[in-house]
Amino acid sequence: MKKKSDMKKGNSNRPKILVTGGAGFIGSHTTVELWNAGYEPVIVDNFSNSKKWVVISIRELTSSGIRCYDVDCCDQTNMRKVFEKEGQFYGIIHFAAYKSVSESVDQPELYYSNNIGALKCIMELKEEFGIPDLIFSSSATVYGDVKNLPVTENAPLGAASSPYGVTKQLGEELLLDAFETGAIILRYFNPIGAHPSGLLGELPAGTPQNLVPFITQTAIGKRKALKVFGTDYNTSDGTCIRDYIHVVDLARAHLSALGRLLVDRKTDIFNVGTGRGYSVKEVVETFQKVNGITLPVIYDARREGDVEAVYADCTKANQLLLNWRAEYSLDDALMHAWKWEIRLAEGIDLAA
Ligand code: WQD
Repeated sequence: MKKKSDMKKGNSNRPKILVTGGAGFIGSHTTVELWNAGYEPVIVDNFSNSKKWVVISIRELTSSGIRCYDVDCCDQTNMRKVFEKEGQFYGIIHFAAYKSVSESVDQPELYYSNNIGALKCIMELKEEFGIPDLIFSSSATVYGDVKNLPVTENAPLGAASSPYGVTKQLGEELLLDAFETGAIILRYFNPIGAHPSGLLGELPAGTPQNLVPFITQTAIGKRKALKVFGTDYNTSDGTCIRDYIHVVDLARAHLSALGRLLVDRKTDIFNVGTGRGYSVKEVVETFQKVNGITLPVIYDARREGDVEAVYADCTKANQLLLNWRAEYSLDDALMHAWKWEIRLAEGIDLAA
């Protein structure tokens, strides 16, 4: 295997990183942070759940000509052409996957073939081209219903609650079996917010399933009212608790994971959250407070599949991911999410 020092760093002399799903919500923010940190990110995205104009926004934000290939990660022939054309990648960050829990329940085969197929393709190309590092986008959903909080990486897994969760848990197992070294698995909690510039953010397809985009679409008038799913949970105010992490903090965790592999090659798993849980009601109240908006809210029945409370113990990431820790507050994330929703209403997506 080539040593990193022998890696061809491309004409920009920046270490080249392949970012699959790099036009997506977390992928796009990570691509910007990679560039800002001195890497040369190269995007592969089939735009099944992202927009091509996002790549233009990334180039604008980084004043760069970051390259993007419209390729499906399950298409190994065309993926191999990207690897051949680009020369040696220093590492791969693999985001490309379908990620809707409810859709996965309706279309399990689609999720298994796409999410596992794409990962297997990337794993094989990693080996074929001797690429040392792989960062895998996993999810706290693998914990299922959590008994002890905050949840640590050693907690028992229970992803069977959805095919989406199973693809993440199975993906982790494949990586742990295949790579004793050179792979880091990041279990995301609840990514929210948007880039402070207002140029990047979440683009939910259709009706948002997640809380924060539903809040901002209600605030902008695209939705009549926010439904709060369940007020009878065994929590301080009866609503579910989650660990909401700003998407830029989450993006930066990927850089720390690449840095971690420089000092310790051992394959490992890290929770990436803030370590603090907030209830749905607290998120709604905070959004209204920081943005000076009153939301129309309907208190509704529980949503099937929701767990009562889950938030991260991030001690391991704070200690071993080069002292990475989440820095943005919930206030920041909800202000940035609102700024982004306003930009969308102004037609930023039509600009490109
Ligand atoms: C959070 C809380 C809802 C919408 C999911 C996936 C997880 C990850 C993040 C991919 C819950 C409540 C929501 C609404 C509400 N995705 N809610 N009204 O379910 O914790 O996690 O997204 O990796 O894998 O499972 O996030 O934002 O959907 O819900 O009351 O309109 O907000 O009931 O308590 P969740 P969420």
